[in-house]
Amino acid sequence: MKKVLITGCLGQIGSELTMRLRADNGTDSVIATDIRRIAGNEVIESGPFEILDVTDKDKMMDIAREYEVDTIIHLAALLSAVAEEKPQLAWNLNMGGLVNALEVARELHLKFFTPSSIGSFGPGTPAENTPQDTLQRPTTMYGVTKVSGELLCDYYFQKFGVDTRGVRFPGLISYKTLPGGGTTDYAVDIYYEALKNKSYTSFIGKGTHMDMMYMPDAIDAIIKLMNADPKRLVHRNAFNITAMSFEPEQIAASIRKFIPDFELKYDVDPARQAIADSWPDSLDASCARNEWDFDPQYDLDRMTKDMLEKLTKKLENDTVVRH
Ligand code: SER
Repeated sequence: MKKVLITGCLGQIGSELTMRLRADNGTDSVIATDIRRIAGNEVIESGPFEILDVTDKDKMMDIAREYEVDTIIHLAALLSAVAEEKPQLAWNLNMGGLVNALEVARELHLKFFTPSSIGSFGPGTPAENTPQDTLQRPTTMYGVTKVSGELLCDYYFQKFGVDTRGVRFPGLISYKTLPGGGTTDYAVDIYYEALKNKSYTSFIGKGTHMDMMYMPDAIDAIIKLMNADPKRLVHRNAFNITAMSFEPEQIAASIRKFIPDFELKYDVDPARQAIADSWPDSLDASCARNEWDFDPQYDLDRMTKDMLEKLTKKLENDTVVRH
């Protein structure tokens, strides 16, 4: 992983992964790409950046060739709630982009990473301690694209020998870049509103458990899996990973340790609640632990403390910039 092409680099994961890899391996070690440009964004300012629509395979190939990358990390995709609103677009973007990225990896002999998700599971999946290998019949378009992607990545390894690797991410919580239209986004929004208003109205209902992880652990997981000894990998793609499982009352209780008068209310969004209800409550991540030493560092309270500290600084800076 000396020179990496990242798609969707301005998204929630890409914006942090790009900066981390550039800090670790040098500015030119990441060719950051996204469908849009954001003026003044640190990802764009800090090293090579190209505009790339992932449905344009020729352009993806040109960029990979020009910069002589050895790895593709393919992140560009629509998240679950948006995908449910625009299912045809989600299929075209999530699958079309993935096929193109896999083809570029095959033709140029590149290493490959793409994330799957807890969204790849469905209502028939065992909800507690969900096994690595189990029933996957998702009822969302996002889930359909994620299961298809998992299978396709396995196929490209078995058929063509492409070194594909991947994880099933749970909801990811971070303070740098907002997630774009997912079901687990409430667990990010709640921290912003806790600091701004000491109150949050959740679109996910009381008692709804979902797996979650803090972004530093997610970035570490990608890097660790990509550097893992292939001889140890029984699975390659779609490793279950998780750092915690909670429902809205539990994250609220964690926030109250730092903001005692924080108030949680509910105005449940039926569309996103239906998606959450179709997903597992808690994953079994033992294959990731055994095969490549997955070892998340943040539990709920440690994450809450860090989120509130970092977000406080960010919101102060935003206010200063606006004045
Ligand atoms: N966080 C994602 C979503 O909610 C799940 O992978 O769509």
